[in-house]
Amino acid sequence: MKGLILSGGRGTRLRPITHTSAKQLVPVANKPLLYYGIECIRDAGITDIGIVVGHTAEEIKAAVGDGSRWGVKVTYIPQSAPLGLAHAVKTAQPFLGEEPFVMYLGDNLVKDGIAPLVQEFITEKPNAEILLAHVQNPQDFGVAELEGERVVRLQEKPKQPRTDLALVGVYMFDPHIFTAIDTLKPSARGEYEITDAIQYLIENGCDVRSHIIRGWWKDTGKLEDMLEANRFVLDTLERNIQGTIDAASQVHGRVVIGAGTQIIRSEVRGPVIIGEGCHIEDAYIGPFTSVHDQTRIVHSEVEHSIILEQCSIENIEARISDSLLGRNVEVRREDRRPRVYRLMLGDNSQVSVL
Ligand code: DAU
Repeated sequence: MKGLILSGGRGTRLRPITHTSAKQLVPVANKPLLYYGIECIRDAGITDIGIVVGHTAEEIKAAVGDGSRWGVKVTYIPQSAPLGLAHAVKTAQPFLGEEPFVMYLGDNLVKDGIAPLVQEFITEKPNAEILLAHVQNPQDFGVAELEGERVVRLQEKPKQPRTDLALVGVYMFDPHIFTAIDTLKPSARGEYEITDAIQYLIENGCDVRSHIIRGWWKDTGKLEDMLEANRFVLDTLERNIQGTIDAASQVHGRVVIGAGTQIIRSEVRGPVIIGEGCHIEDAYIGPFTSVHDQTRIVHSEVEHSIILEQCSIENIEARISDSLLGRNVEVRREDRRPRVYRLMLGDNSQVSVL
């Protein structure tokens, strides 16, 4: 069995972060999202993994390397343009050959392991297996209709969903999927949809199975989803303090503080992760916050947010919440006159002021 992670695409809903960075590399609890996918596949016993890459290929290669860090072998598969999930699979056909494979969408985060499902797929040899989850907004996903455990119909982002069962971004296929992909025409959104390819398998008598997952799962396409994924993962943290905390500070609950980080006259209320080499002074870091390496937070309060590397937040009066700051972002209050907002924001930035 091989693994295929889809890490191309555009990431438009996470701009401006994705102007300069792949959405699959945005850190959740200070670890790039893509690493969770690699670990999920590796933990299912699969060591031969292809990663489909697009215009962010170089950045993804730099972050993942040859896979030896995880004990896997990674092959990069360039996709000419983000023409859809089925197009990505077709592009990977020379890598996949005749072997069955797990396909994992690189912007998804699935809590439960997939090892038992992979084992079952290997022994029972169906043609395809999809993972499903009950959701409140099925219109945003591929949606499945079942008869018992049998999948009878799939629709990609239907306006009027017939069930609340969304396709989770993990699929298993045998080579029949390539025959199905060859019949596809672009969908209304102009993409070759894997959902349509699976529908073709169903209509042509293939054995397509489903498994409803019970643990949490997140498609991290939007900011709120990213913050929710961050919440889920931070909730599983074990306390681990490596940095220094002065006597005037209080650090409550499940908190991870990396080496070389200083906490001075501050309060940290977990679950929180703070990376290495950070400087936190006269500050409050509230629940569900991830602060990446070399960041300064001084005279400010932050909660329920993801702050990337080398940011600086200083003298901000109101608490920063529900926010995602990219690398090297500076947010500070100045007392000089005139009292104006001075902004340098990239395309598609969003700022809410008091
Ligand atoms: O997250 C689950 C959903 O993923 C399913 O419910 C849908 O049925 C499925 O179509 C897919 O929908 P999205 O619209 O969320 O897919 P997205 O465009 O975000 O792409 C998913 C991943 O695949 C992402 O990491 C980018 C990558 N990708 C995407 C395209 C279109 C590629 O590598 N190549 C592509 O051409």
